[in-house]
Amino acid sequence: MRVVCLISGDGSNLQALIDWQLKGLLGYAEIVGVVSNKVEAFGLECAKRANIATTVLPHQRYPDRYEFDRALMSVIDDYEADLIVLAGFMRILTAQFVNYYANRLVNIHPSLLPKYKGLNTHRRAIEAGDSIAGATVHWVTEELDSGGIIRQMEVAIHAHDSEDSLRRRVLEAEHCLYPAVIRDLSLGVVAC
Ligand code: GRF
Repeated sequence: MRVVCLISGDGSNLQALIDWQLKGLLGYAEIVGVVSNKVEAFGLECAKRANIATTVLPHQRYPDRYEFDRALMSVIDDYEADLIVLAGFMRILTAQFVNYYANRLVNIHPSLLPKYKGLNTHRRAIEAGDSIAGATVHWVTEELDSGGIIRQMEVAIHAHDSEDSLRRRVLEAEHCLYPAVIRDLSLGVVAC
């Protein structure tokens, strides 16, 4: 299963996927390419260190979302991707993109969806007085953070948690959850 990861930033989830791949734990999945819309994304370095091909597609160079997504689709298709993994890709994707890759496009979101779609998930969970936070891997559909849930992992919220301490703990959970889901998708253990 040829996997292309889309990133915009730190790429810690990408690094977790790479670690599992290097240890032979990613099933039939192989990360064949990493695409970033930001030239300074640290995740690009992670990919290069692992000898994975990278492409940078600065979104500012395109007149609108439609043209950017068209260019992105062309890059992804050149990699002959079976699965597209959003790993901190901070761009809203057009309906044409999402529908073209229907059932081949997954995302990880730092909350227990359907709670806290969108941004500032940890702050909102703390402010609401929740005792449990977590992360969700889901299929991507036209509506933001609303596609079918593949798997979730819960993380306790401690009394003295700050937004940042909770973010770090949820991120650690993401680093187990995401590779495990990608492995299982490649093995056909999760329905596609
Ligand atoms: C993660 O919290 C993920 O859930 C969200 O974006 C963040 C990406 O972090 N979609 P990283 O770039 O993988 O470190």
